[in-house]
Amino acid sequence: MADLDLEQLIKEIEQSTASSISELEQYRVRYLGKKGKVKELFSRLKDADAEARETLGAKFNDIKYRAEAKFESLKSKLSSKKSGEENEMDLSRPGVPLPLGTRHPISIVRNQMIKIFEHIGFTVSEGPEIETDWNNFTALNIPEDHPARDMQDTFFLQTDPDILLRTHTSPQQIRVMESTAPPIRIICPGRVYRNETVSARAHCIFHQIEGLYIDESVSFTDLKQTLYYFAKEMFGEDTKTRFRPSYFPFTEPSAEMDISCLICKGEGCPVCKHSGWVEILGCGMVDPSVLENCNIDSSKYMGYAFGLGIERPAMLKYQIDDIRLFFENDIRFLEQFQSAL
Ligand code: DAH
Repeated sequence: MADLDLEQLIKEIEQSTASSISELEQYRVRYLGKKGKVKELFSRLKDADAEARETLGAKFNDIKYRAEAKFESLKSKLSSKKSGEENEMDLSRPGVPLPLGTRHPISIVRNQMIKIFEHIGFTVSEGPEIETDWNNFTALNIPEDHPARDMQDTFFLQTDPDILLRTHTSPQQIRVMESTAPPIRIICPGRVYRNETVSARAHCIFHQIEGLYIDESVSFTDLKQTLYYFAKEMFGEDTKTRFRPSYFPFTEPSAEMDISCLICKGEGCPVCKHSGWVEILGCGMVDPSVLENCNIDSSKYMGYAFGLGIERPAMLKYQIDDIRLFFENDIRFLEQFQSAL
């Protein structure tokens, strides 16, 4: 036994390396094989006297354990290195194609609308979907018990009648006017909520874009020209527009704008109820009392506002006949819309 240098053997094992499978195998044969050094150690036990056998046995077991652990660590280092090498080799292989998602049709149409208005100097201002009664109704000249509140069946949050899901994007006008000095030229895209029975033509969630322009000298002509420009850009040069007098509590005078039906080009079809026209927005000159509610001097400033739906133009553009499709998130439906926007 005197010739046994166990410390040296341990050192050898610890310092072993294997940079290939064959070197690993060499290691295994050298230390753990049938004729390997560990086996050889144990074979010597029988020559030791009984007293020494116990301590030697423990030592040999320790060496065996170290040799096995080293083997496992060399093996795993080698396999991680190997897979790294394989990845490098993969550079020449074709990649695994990842399916590209598509934009939601509502996003496509909204982005197109935003781009058109940005082009003529409007900036985007987004606001919260949970609103106060003041912003959604009262400041917009819709006091409590005003019949216009019935037109917009409201979802109230919890038991506080003051907190609600906005029924239109107009409250964002109020937020901006209360916090910004004119001139103001904004568009406010967003989701709105109304407690309506869901059908092919109506949904309890939909989208609008609010527009607001406040300055010292703004006329109804400016409003008409802006919306006229928008309609041509959005729906094509051939699109005709018409304004009809209307009523909104927050604008005076008020109007609604129709465009010639994109499906039948104004000839008359079921989509336009055979009128040749489709209504796409409400608009008007901001009522001075709304300006005053926001602490804007109505003797100095005036402006126009409009509220544009997104679903209807999107349905016209893509010839979609059921509004519910927008909210079902059926991949087969959504995959059909491709856009750079
Ligand atoms: N807020 C109105 C609605 O949801 C739409 C609207 C009409 C907005 C006229 C306006 C406007 O800014 O001037 O029905």
